[in-house]
Amino acid sequence: MATSPTFKAGLEDVVAGTSDICFIDGREGRLVYCGYDITELAKHATFEETVFLLFHKRLPTKVELEAFDSKLRSFRAVPGQVLQIMKELPREIHPMAALRTAVSLLGNFDTDAERTGRDAYVETSMRLVAQIATVIAAWERIRNGQEPVAPRLDLSHAGNFLYMLFEREPDPLHAKVFDVALTLHADHELNASTFSGRVTVATLTDLYSAVGAAIGTLKGSLHGGANENVMKMEMEIGAVENAEAWIKQALAEKRKIMGFGHRVYKTKDPRAFILEDLSAQVATRAGTTKWLEMTRVIERTVLMEKGLYPNVDLYSGSMYHVMGIATDLYTPIFALARISGWTAHILEQLANNRIIRPRADYTGPEKLDYVPLDQRM
Ligand code: COA
Repeated sequence: MATSPTFKAGLEDVVAGTSDICFIDGREGRLVYCGYDITELAKHATFEETVFLLFHKRLPTKVELEAFDSKLRSFRAVPGQVLQIMKELPREIHPMAALRTAVSLLGNFDTDAERTGRDAYVETSMRLVAQIATVIAAWERIRNGQEPVAPRLDLSHAGNFLYMLFEREPDPLHAKVFDVALTLHADHELNASTFSGRVTVATLTDLYSAVGAAIGTLKGSLHGGANENVMKMEMEIGAVENAEAWIKQALAEKRKIMGFGHRVYKTKDPRAFILEDLSAQVATRAGTTKWLEMTRVIERTVLMEKGLYPNVDLYSGSMYHVMGIATDLYTPIFALARISGWTAHILEQLANNRIIRPRADYTGPEKLDYVPLDQRM
């Protein structure tokens, strides 16, 4: 059968819904949350303020932000049973697989998980934003044979995550750049995981199930998994002076270079500029600029050889590495930020819901005669 003229592989440029949350100008390289440019938000807003913006589609007043932040903090602790069951998981599984299980467990121990209505959905979304940080940090501790660190209520979301991860007072520079990194990753229109979350919740399932679907989608190497693979590539390259030749060879072998290319951006991802700067701040302070320099050589080489620009994943890897964060935690950290966008889109979907059910062009055979089992060759 002929393919429909409207069909586009990978749904490229297909508009699959309307949204007030996020706008991307792929040609100009602009990213906007609810009318505010990401560059402005990265400069001025905290992650908590950004979450409020995404949920309510407007900036909070000072009083509203204080109330919102304090409610988020109050949700940080997770049920002991969740941590207990997580301790039974095989230690070698990928942290994204552990996160997928942990979110499902959080849903199982939330007696309000099936509540409906905007207020209940917002409250569950806030719980998810707060608790995902706790379970990601807890898994890092558990898999290293350590006890999870209880959240602190006096720290920001970013600072508390670093505290739970390392069990020490977060370095103020690290807490600040991490907060900005969370804001930068908070939302990105109908990316694969957000779309998956919207499709799932549109069946009127619960929010934990929708977020579980989004986590499974983010885990793939073409989506959230790319940041981890950038760092693995840099480790394989080993030294700044090897980078150019390594990249040229990889491109000659038609290999994809992680951290480059994007379905929507046709220029450098605006988040990559900011992350490059944050990465430079962290690297300079630590006196470890090797990875940053290597990333810059890789960026130049890929642009020269293939005309491809960096995406959000290129500079985050080297920054997290210098901060002492394990490579396979980069994708869960992406989830730690993107949970805000996922739940904002879920809230938007539920506010005006219709089940998402597209069609497929059938390309298989037709009108075959059924052959009885014992007569088949
Ligand atoms: N390295 C090398 N070549 C790349 C590339 C990369 N990172 N990204 C795209 N290309 C090339 C493709 O090989 C293809 O070339 P061809 O036309 O000669 O076959 C062309 O650019 C189009 O790429 P395609 O994979 O069809 O684009 P897409 O829109 O389907 O995919 C991505 C977008 C992001 C999945 C893709 O660019 C990619 O795989 N990037 C690496 C993973 C990554 O960093 N993901 C994070 C996204 S934020």
